[in-house]
Amino acid sequence: MADADGILENKDKDYGIGIPVKNQAFFLKGLDNCDWGIKNRMSRIFNPKTGRTVMLAFDHGYIMGPTSGLERLDLSIVPLIEYADSLMCTRGALRSVVPPTSDKPVCLRYSAGSSVLTELNNECILDIQDAVRLNASALAVMVSIGDTFEAKTVENLVRTADYGYKYGIPTMGVTAVGKQMVRDARYFSAASRICAENGATLVKTYYCDGFAKVVNSCPVPIVIAGGKKLPEKEALELCYKAISEGASGVDMGRNVFQSENPVAMIQAVKAVVHDNLTPEQAFEMFNDLKK
Ligand code: 5RP
Repeated sequence: MADADGILENKDKDYGIGIPVKNQAFFLKGLDNCDWGIKNRMSRIFNPKTGRTVMLAFDHGYIMGPTSGLERLDLSIVPLIEYADSLMCTRGALRSVVPPTSDKPVCLRYSAGSSVLTELNNECILDIQDAVRLNASALAVMVSIGDTFEAKTVENLVRTADYGYKYGIPTMGVTAVGKQMVRDARYFSAASRICAENGATLVKTYYCDGFAKVVNSCPVPIVIAGGKKLPEKEALELCYKAISEGASGVDMGRNVFQSENPVAMIQAVKAVVHDNLTPEQAFEMFNDLKK
């Protein structure tokens, strides 16, 4: 039975007198002043050893329906989950396909609205209680700077960040690219910065010439989307350039699940992101793994 001796008796206790408490800087930029829950969830998404993540994106169906490679999520995505550091998907995919025994942190697609068949980005956000119920590690919201729905999508981000701070869940600003937007460093730098200034704790954007300017002018970590399917070597070059110029990882979909060998490809991408393999080394790895 517990007794009071340990509380009342002072001798033999070690108070570490003279040893200052160490203040630890958080390993991801711009987040030192965030709450423990946000930092803890960010530390699940990003590997604290490398400060980087390979997020497997398969949320495309929320605007595109069953796009190539995602016709059967159970067949194409489930075998890839073990290789990803984190997952980005809709609540529909999560509930219907992702095994609840998976320990991978989920960046939940948290905004939804119009599809590719109409005008994109006219979106609302989900119920925060559902995100909590699903144990989301981050909330991803589309932000379309410069297009018709700019104000609405920024409001979605602001509301999401409010909920995120309330419940300790990071918010990911997803920079959309409208048809009339120029995909250059000036645009992505403005869009990423606007996301961060309005509460995003991480930003997903696209690689472009002058990408270091996009990273340096954004106060929180940036991950890059892969975009349309490229030949594997080019996709690995894209990852390498983005990481070399300061990206904290990739949020990649089509270049993984549309690859001729998705399991080999995600491992090659991981080797670039976490082990700094060159594109040539990673492509060799891809070719070895696919044999
Ligand atoms: C779709 C998305 C995707 O998650 C994002 O574009 C990453 O996928 P990909 O690498 O295929 O571009 O936000 O709405």
